[in-house]
Amino acid sequence: MEITLDSPLDMHLHLRDGDMLKLTAPLSADFAGAVIMPNLVPPITTPDAMVAYSRRIREAMGEDVAFSRYMTLFFTPQTEATLQSICDTPEFFAFKLYPAGITTNSEGGISHMKEADSTLRMMEEMGIPLLVHGESHGFVMDREAEFLAVYRDLATRYPKLRLCMEHITTAAALQLLDEFENLCATVTLQHLLITLDDVAGGALNPHLFCKPIAKRPGDRDALLQAALEAHPRLMFGSDSAPHPLHKKECCGCAAGVFTAPLALPKLAELFAAHGSLGNLQNFVSGNARKLYGLTPVSRPITLTDTPTHVPASYRSFGQQVVPMYAGESIGWSVKKD
Ligand code: DOR
Ligand code: ZN
Repeated sequence: MEITLDSPLDMHLHLRDGDMLKLTAPLSADFAGAVIMPNLVPPITTPDAMVAYSRRIREAMGEDVAFSRYMTLFFTPQTEATLQSICDTPEFFAFKLYPAGITTNSEGGISHMKEADSTLRMMEEMGIPLLVHGESHGFVMDREAEFLAVYRDLATRYPKLRLCMEHITTAAALQLLDEFENLCATVTLQHLLITLDDVAGGALNPHLFCKPIAKRPGDRDALLQAALEAHPRLMFGSDSAPHPLHKKECCGCAAGVFTAPLALPKLAELFAAHGSLGNLQNFVSGNARKLYGLTPVSRPITLTDTPTHVPASYRSFGQQVVPMYAGESIGWSVKKD
C-alpha cells in the first residue's frame, strides 16, 4: 500500500538553534513546511530576530530544500505601529502565547490575560493568528481543562480572532472546538497514541514526557477519532520538541517528545490501520491550508507500508537526541526515489 501526500505541513514544530538546529532541521524535512515555535533562549520577540532565525533554519535545512517556514513571534504586548511592521514581514505567520513559566523557556510569557487585551483587539482586526499554549498552573492532569475557560472567554470576546488551541490533549478541548466555530486546534502524534500510563504507569519513560502531559484513554481515543475523521478545524502539529539526551535521561527531565523524523510514516501506519488513509491529506495539510489560506511550496511525498527502523538516537554536530519509538520498527516509511 502507498499514499502520496501533497505538501504535508507540521503546524507546530520546535527546531531550536545552533548545533541542535543543524541536527533537527534536516530530520524535519519530510514536511513541506512548518509553523516554527519561538521559545528559544532568549525567545524570538522582534521581526529582526525572527528573520535572522528563519535564515538560519534555511541554511540548516539546505538551501536547495523547498520548505515553507511559517515563523512565529513569542507573544508580548504590542503597539499598533509595531504590529503593523510585524505584519509587513513576509515570514511572519502568527503570535504564540505562553502563560508565564508554563513550559520550556516561557518565563517571559503572559501572567494575566488582561495584559494581552489591546494587542488581541488589534490582531483581530489585522487577521493575525494567535496560537496558544493552553494550560493553567493547576494540578498537572487538570491544566488544560482549567484553561478551557480562557479559550471560551477569548473566543467570545474576539469572535473574529484566528485562535488556535495548540496541542490539545483532552476530549473536553474537542468539545469546545465543536462549540465555537472561530476556534481551531492542533494535535500531536503522541497524543493520538499514548496515555499517562505510557509515560509513568510502568517504568518511567522520560522520552514520552511532554507538556501538556498525555491524559486518559478516553481523551486519547476522542483525539484519535477526530484526527481519523480529519475534523475540519483540527490540524496536525507535531510539537516535536528535541532536547539533548542528557537533559531527558536525568532528574529534572525536560518536557518534549522528538517525533519529526518519524511523524509521517507513523501517521500513515495509524490511519491505514483504521482504514482512514483517505483522510490523512486533510489532516496533515488540507485543513491547515483552508483555515489559514496557506499556499506552501509544492512537494509531494510518498509513504509506503514497508517498515522503517527508528534509530536509538540521532547524533551529529556534537548533539544527541532520542526519538519516539527509538530502536523500534514502525510499519510504514518514506519512499525515497
Ligand atoms: O513538551 C513540551 N516541550 N511542551 C512545550 O510546550 C514546549 C516544548 C519544548 O519547547 O520543549
Ligand atoms: Zn510546542
